[in-house]
Amino acid sequence: MVPAPPPDRAPVVVSIGGSVLLTGTGDSEYFERLADLLRRLGAERPLVVTTGGGRTAREYIRLGRTLGLTEVELDEVGIEVTRLHARLLSARVGPPAPAHPPTTVASVVEQLRTGSPVILGGTEPGHTTDGVAALVAVRVRAARVVNATDVDGVYDRNPRTNPEARRIERLTWSEFRAMVHEGTSGEAGQNFLFDRLGADALARAGIPLLIVPGRDLENLEDAIVGRPCRGSRIGETGTEKTP
Ligand code: UTP
Repeated sequence: MVPAPPPDRAPVVVSIGGSVLLTGTGDSEYFERLADLLRRLGAERPLVVTTGGGRTAREYIRLGRTLGLTEVELDEVGIEVTRLHARLLSARVGPPAPAHPPTTVASVVEQLRTGSPVILGGTEPGHTTDGVAALVAVRVRAARVVNATDVDGVYDRNPRTNPEARRIERLTWSEFRAMVHEGTSGEAGQNFLFDRLGADALARAGIPLLIVPGRDLENLEDAIVGRPCRGSRIGETGTEKTP
């Protein structure tokens, strides 16, 4: 058995949703502050960050669909947009984050040996940048994956339509996977809470997932470094029920 790195030096993988990067309000200020945070935390521990495509990706996917592109071609359109966001964030973070973000999980592992943070968009058709984050996390034996998203956690009902909805602070992998598999259609641009293949990969590897509101950067920092934070925690030790 290869010894695990000490907990405060284990890599952390962060997936920033495109809906967090692009809200139409204060986006450039958010990019700047996020870049500062990632540069600082990335110097302290190995950090990998994926960037989503958000509404820009969905808009181009919609356009491509009306033009008759296949699902794979639409995924590729989405990937281009996620890479554009990675390039913007990476350029703002500056060296050692390269101007050309990596395009495969293998090259992320290579780059992480020479510097941190490593920032990238999508890799190949069939999953999302949350899925990429999960695959990277499994590959580098990450301590956790932090999903920075546009909600502040997982709710028992849709909080947008139901005022009675309550946030669930802790979930087991089986509870969370059931929610994700039920809510995801598999079409390009369609994802619910987290990538379903990504959820399966993390559950199998026993890597916890935190779902946190991405625009609250103090809270995001707490989540990345492993302090208590606002959001939902999935698959942490003690949350799995015995069968
Ligand atoms: P996102 O990762 O942005 O997916 O990729 P999303 O679920 O729409 O997430 P948010 O809203 O940004 O948080 C956008 C699309 O690009 C394709 C998929 O079609 C995805 O829905 N994609 C992305 C891939 O096919 N492979 C990848 O590795 C990444």
